[in-house]
Amino acid sequence: MSSDTPLQLLGGLSATEFLRDIWQQRPLLIRGAFPDFECPLDPDELAGLACEDGVEARLVEEHGEDGPWQVRHGPFDEAVFGELPERDWTLLVQAVDHYVPEVAELLEAFTFLPRWRLDDIMISYAPPGGSVGPHMDQYDVFLLQGMGRRRWQLGGKVADEAPIIPGIDLRILERFEVTPGDDWVLEPGDMLYLPPGWAHHGVSQSDDCLTLSVGFRAPSADEAITSFADYLGEQLPASLRYADAGMAPPDDPSELDDAAVARMRRLILETLDDPARLAQWFGRAMTQPKYVDQLVPREQPTAPAELVAELQAGGELVRCRGSRFAWRALDGERATLFADGDGVTCALPLARALASDAALDAEALALPGAAELLAALLDAGSLSWADE
Ligand code: SIN
Ligand code: CO
Repeated sequence: MSSDTPLQLLGGLSATEFLRDIWQQRPLLIRGAFPDFECPLDPDELAGLACEDGVEARLVEEHGEDGPWQVRHGPFDEAVFGELPERDWTLLVQAVDHYVPEVAELLEAFTFLPRWRLDDIMISYAPPGGSVGPHMDQYDVFLLQGMGRRRWQLGGKVADEAPIIPGIDLRILERFEVTPGDDWVLEPGDMLYLPPGWAHHGVSQSDDCLTLSVGFRAPSADEAITSFADYLGEQLPASLRYADAGMAPPDDPSELDDAAVARMRRLILETLDDPARLAQWFGRAMTQPKYVDQLVPREQPTAPAELVAELQAGGELVRCRGSRFAWRALDGERATLFADGDGVTCALPLARALASDAALDAEALALPGAAELLAALLDAGSLSWADE
């Protein structure tokens, strides 16, 4: 499909038009983005997930026993759901795509964006009146109505420092003024795109309101600088340090003069300005799994010959849910394959195949270096056998 083909998912815009005019700039309401949408899970299944260990879930009650906007964190006991009031609460479950393959399949519709920008699909359930209050998120999000109806009101772009209600475990805006016209009720299959920093308020209008949030990741400057500096730091020799050979004698030995600051600045900027190392760090950072403990390394290393035999006998490897892959060319033939926060050099076609959705069966062995790399990824926990 060409990037200029009009897409129903984007309300008839092509990927090129959406990325140029909307993405990160303004909201877009898309009626019937997923025509005849059948939500891949129901409220009971969502509640079931919220009771499982290791699944990140929250319950938000607007009028909690101990005050307004109470937040409880999962895993929950099933009995909790029977004790909730009839309205005005929300259950939020993070990363449902990691647990429900049919939810993960929805991500295939978003390939007009780099895969490594995707974070996860959060799903919320709410009875009538349920909401998490007016707020803004720092991330792009597509809010897809899964079941029932939700009213969305938008309040325009808000500043980072916009006041929030103090003393509660949610970042609810103290002031929220609806932009005239930005007020809609979404039905199943309708979708609302919001850029970062846009105030929004979504209130359930039905008994069975399920909303899927397809969220994106973008590291903050703070996270990026700290993490890149950590990555670089591990590789820098101890001898690379502040140096002042040839300096003039100081006027006052207690003064930190301009020349000293300039030397330090040069050391820092020249060390940081290393595009090749930055690319290596970036690939690792953007493929860090959301939940690191979901990556379970094998206790016994796999011999490549053993892996080859298994694949030739009809075995198939699968990418673990929640595992993240990306690649970057090093030259015309080699690439770095990034997988779950790590990076390895391999043949470019192999990196591309592993980072794609292509099946990992005996045919994958035709690519040079495949057996060793597949064994390493299996041992790291990024891949597993389909029948395990
Ligand atoms: C919700 O689904 O209730 C909240 C989603 C959001 O506002 O980000
Ligand atoms: Co939000």
